[in-house]
Amino acid sequence: MSLPPNVYDAEPIPAAAREEIERLLQTGDLFRYTAPQDAPVSLLEREFADALGSGYALAVSSCSAALFLSLKALDLPRGARVLVPAFTFAAVPSAVVHADCTPVLCEVGDNYRIDIDDFAKRLDHSIDAVIISHMRGHTSDMDAIMALAETRGVPVIEDAAHSLGTTWHGQRIGTIGRVGCFSFQSYKLLNSGEGGMMITDDADIMARAVIMSGAYEHNWSKHMAATEEDAQALHEAFARWQNRLPLYNLRMGNLSAALLRPQIPELPRRIADGRRNHDYVAERLNLSPWIEVPAKLDPEERAPDSIQFNLVGMAQDQVEAFSRAAAERGVKVQVFGLSADNARAFWNWQFLGELPELPRTRQMLMRACDTRLPARLQLPELDVIAEALVRAAQDVMGNIRGYGT
Ligand SMILES: Cc1ncc(COP(=O)(O)O)c(C=O)c1O
Repeated sequence: MSLPPNVYDAEPIPAAAREEIERLLQTGDLFRYTAPQDAPVSLLEREFADALGSGYALAVSSCSAALFLSLKALDLPRGARVLVPAFTFAAVPSAVVHADCTPVLCEVGDNYRIDIDDFAKRLDHSIDAVIISHMRGHTSDMDAIMALAETRGVPVIEDAAHSLGTTWHGQRIGTIGRVGCFSFQSYKLLNSGEGGMMITDDADIMARAVIMSGAYEHNWSKHMAATEEDAQALHEAFARWQNRLPLYNLRMGNLSAALLRPQIPELPRRIADGRRNHDYVAERLNLSPWIEVPAKLDPEERAPDSIQFNLVGMAQDQVEAFSRAAAERGVKVQVFGLSADNARAFWNWQFLGELPELPRTRQMLMRACDTRLPARLQLPELDVIAEALVRAAQDVMGNIRGYGT
């Protein structure tokens, strides 16, 4: 039998990064604001903004930092209520708390997307902002969400941590809401170990975020924009906010930018490979009567780096047995609601105080499985993973059916 593939390693960092890092090590030029211009972080911001077709980009220490700064940049009042899907990573409601706001959770359906009826119900006049986590790169119905948010005049922040390269009606995820936030943690499509990016077309939001990220004194003058006109608007906004905002120092350093810049040209290939891998495994898993990979929404073109699927017709002990059987066959499956202290299970977010009950999301989390599927895997490796998962379901359900006859 073929050995199960290593799904934890990321792709090697392109050689060009090593040369640039050697140069930075020689000069010690690691702080983004030391050079008078064209520091690696500034260049990365421009290249990333251009790749996404966005006016402005700010590189920071993580996606969580980008979410926090987005909320601060929106100038929300203390205690503002921010609507967040109940299926996301704990760092997202944490960013809301960090920004002195209150997270309000809404239901997520068994296709991992926001339950639009519940979202509409909770988007009442008490809500000041919305964060849409495209969790694991699954896009919720952005037509409905934007229409509802616009009707209520509420700004939308897109948490696109896992959605770099995903499109909705051909538009890049992260450019639909007022602000888009991305992660460069190692399991994402661009990898610097840690890191994040915030994009927007709004000069005022960008100027506020840049200053609060740690552009003290006049370091903001080293930030660039897509056009002369955008640069002018940004500089006017910087002048308006000079000395009026706290400095949270969430900057990215030049070494991280040097790791990321040569990966940007790799993006189209990584997106295509990730989608190919996902769809290949999904097709095979969907042949099993016990496994269902929910379909994407029509306007969505995904860029996955992992696969999620629901176990069908299994009781709780069978779900647990499936997870064990997959592990024995060499494939680690995380059932979001079952693994102890899982950071994506809303009932573990005890820092929020009293937690609401969200039965639809809970039900989904108790059956939803998560397996890594990096873009660098090749078809024979995908066969091993798909085969192990299908057989693990048979190990459990095949036997149970046998006992009943
Ligand atoms: C949906 C989602 N949002 C935000 C984050 C936070 O990203 P970071 O680790 O860059 O802070 C993550 C982390 O993986 C995530 O899964």
